[in-house]
Formats: sequence, structure tokens, C-alpha cells
Amino acid sequence: MKHSKKEKSPMASLRLAFVLLISLVSPTSSCTQQEKICLLRFLAGLSQDGGLAASWRDGEDCCEWEGVTCGTDRAVAGVSLASKSLEGNISESLGSLDGLKLLDLSHNSLSGCLPRGLVSSPSIVVLDVSFNRLSGALHELPSSTPPRPLQVLNISSNSFTGMFPSTIWESMENLIALNGSNNSFTGQIPTHFCNGSPSFAVLDLSYNKLRGSIPRGLGDCSVLRVLNAGYNNLSGTLPDELFRATSLEHLSFRNNELHGVLDGAHIINLGNLVTHQL
Ligand SMILES: *[C@@H]1O[C@H](CO)[C@@H](O)[C@H](O)[C@H]1NC(C)=O
Ligand SMILES: *[C@@H]1O[C@H](CO)[C@@H](O)[C@H](O)[C@H]1NC(C)=O
Ligand SMILES: *[C@@H]1O[C@H](CO)[C@@H](O)[C@H](O)[C@H]1NC(C)=O
Ligand SMILES: *[C@@H]1O[C@H](CO)[C@@H](O)[C@H](O)[C@H]1NC(C)=O
Ligand SMILES: *[C@@H]1O[C@H](CO)[C@@H](O)[C@H](O)[C@H]1NC(C)=O
Repeated sequence: MKHSKKEKSPMASLRLAFVLLISLVSPTSSCTQQEKICLLRFLAGLSQDGGLAASWRDGEDCCEWEGVTCGTDRAVAGVSLASKSLEGNISESLGSLDGLKLLDLSHNSLSGCLPRGLVSSPSIVVLDVSFNRLSGALHELPSSTPPRPLQVLNISSNSFTGMFPSTIWESMENLIALNGSNNSFTGQIPTHFCNGSPSFAVLDLSYNKLRGSIPRGLGDCSVLRVLNAGYNNLSGTLPDELFRATSLEHLSFRNNELHGVLDGAHIINLGNLVTHQL
């Protein structure tokens, strides 16, 4: 008797622990209704959903939906829908997914504007909407915007227009890579990339309509590896300060209106340079 009681007790506590675990986990064992609503709003904004509706069904856990991934807390952490033949608009509702870290909508035919709430999201780390038909301007953010976690922003190969934003980058202190190439941005290259973003490594603004001079501030980008601003209408000379960015590996300003001779003694400062087209 004594013996069996001794055996039962760990079993009972195991069972209790199991029941406790289930009751703790079950409320969050699938994504929330709120998350479903956000995702279904995005789906509703598409005029061509590439077959997504077949798996994006309200009755099922959205963590199991095509292209949706959830974190260990079962919150929606990623929406990866590259090359799914999507058409239509990107709903602002995606910006309300509190745990969303990765949003990849590249290589589709999405149109309309890029909702402001995505670029300024308090959770998104990687935002890739490259190779779509997005248009309109990228808006500045209020100066009171707290620091954002965004590390990678790829808005390249779209039809964005308007002045390339300059103040927005001040709240992007985690920014590592920005690809805005192959759009129709106007205005100047912002000066303030690196004061606020110490990890900034990749800047591609080629194939736009940028003008003005190359900002001296780029010289403060101590870990900048790639700087491509070819095929714009930049003018003036290469500022001496640029040669302080000694991590540069790839530098291109080809097809601009730059003038002045490039001093070989300067280029020698850039000991990591692999390619340059000036
Ligand atoms: C996309 O947005 C535009 C306005 O920006 C609107 O006219 C159009 O109806 C929207 N399309 C869809 C599929 O919601
Ligand atoms: C967009 O740019 C980022 C950063 O350069 C890169 O990691 C990503 O592969 C690019 N996306 C596509 C579809 O090329
Ligand atoms: C930026 O995106 C374009 C495609 O839109 C790509 O060709 C280019 O390599 C990218 N630049 C960098 C530095 O990754
Ligand atoms: C520029 O964007 C257009 C439209 O998205 C695309 O067809 C083209 O390949 C892109 N060019 C480069 C150099 O990436
Ligand atoms: C480029 O800029 C120069 C002067 O800054 C101007 O004269 C020229 O028209 C511009 N070219 C284009 C294609 O905008």
C-alpha cells in the first residue's frame, strides 16, 4: 500500500502539472482573434490573392496559414509572401500585428502606397516590399517618434515618388540596410544616416532622381560597406569626409553630374574597397 501510494503521488503531481500547463498554454495556443482580423483585412485589400484564401480561413489557427509564422508565444511574428502573384493594396492593418518582426511582400504586383504604420512599426525588424508597383511618397514621421527596431528596409524597384525622406531616419537607430533604388525619388540624399544609426552598413539609392551634393555626413558612417547612388542627378565633388568611411567595400556614383578629379591619395584611405565606379 505504502509502496503504491508512493508511486501514485509523482503521477498525480505530474497530472496536475500537465493540467496546469494546458490551462496556462491554451489561451495562447493559437493566434488571437485580433491577429486574424488584421490578416483578413490585408487579404480583403488584395484584388488577386494568389490562392491565399484557401488556407487563410477564419476557423483555423492563423499560425498555420500559408506564409504566416508565429513565435514561441504563438504571436504572429512573420508574414512571408514573396512571389505569390499578389495584386491590390497593402492594408494598414498589418501594422497592428504587435509581434510582427518580418514582413516580406517582395516580387508581387502590389500597388497603392506603403502604409506609414509599417515603416514606423514598433515591432517590424525586416520590411521588404521590393519589386512591386507601390507609388506615392514615403512620409516623414513626427519628431517625437521613439526609436524603432527596423533594421532592413527594402523598398527598391517600385514607383515611389516625392522627396526622399530625411528626418524619418533619426528614429531608425537600428537600421543596417536601406535599399530605395529604382524608384523616382527626388530631393537630396539625407545627411543624417549615421548620427543615429551606428550599425548602418548598406545604402542603395541608385536609379532615382536625386539631386544636390553628396552629403559630408556619410563620412561618419564608420561601418558603411555599400554606398550606391549611381544613376541620379547628383552634382558637385566627392566630399573629403567621405574618405573617412573606411569600411566601404563598394562605392558607386556613376552616371551623375559629379565633377572634379579623384585624388588617388584619398582612395587609398579606403583600404577595404573592392569596387568603385565614380
Ligand atoms: C486600393 O486603394 C485605392 C486608394 O488608395 C482604392 O481606390 C482601391 O479601391 C483600393 N483597392 C482595394 C482592392 O482595396
Ligand atoms: C532587399 O534588400 C535586403 C537588404 O539589402 C536584402 O537582404 C534582401 O534580400 C532584398 N530583397 C530582395 C527580394 O532582393
Ligand atoms: C537593391 O535592390 C535592387 C533591386 O531592386 C538590387 O538590384 C540591388 O542589388 C540592391 N542593392 C543592394 C545593395 O543590395
Ligand atoms: C526596376 O524596377 C522595374 C519594375 O519593378 C523592374 O522591372 C526592373 O528590373 C528594375 N531594375 C533593376 C535594375 O532592378
Ligand atoms: C541635373 O541637374 C542639373 C543642374 O543641377 C540640371 O541642369 C539638369 O537639368 C538636371 N538633369 C535632370 C535630368 O534632371
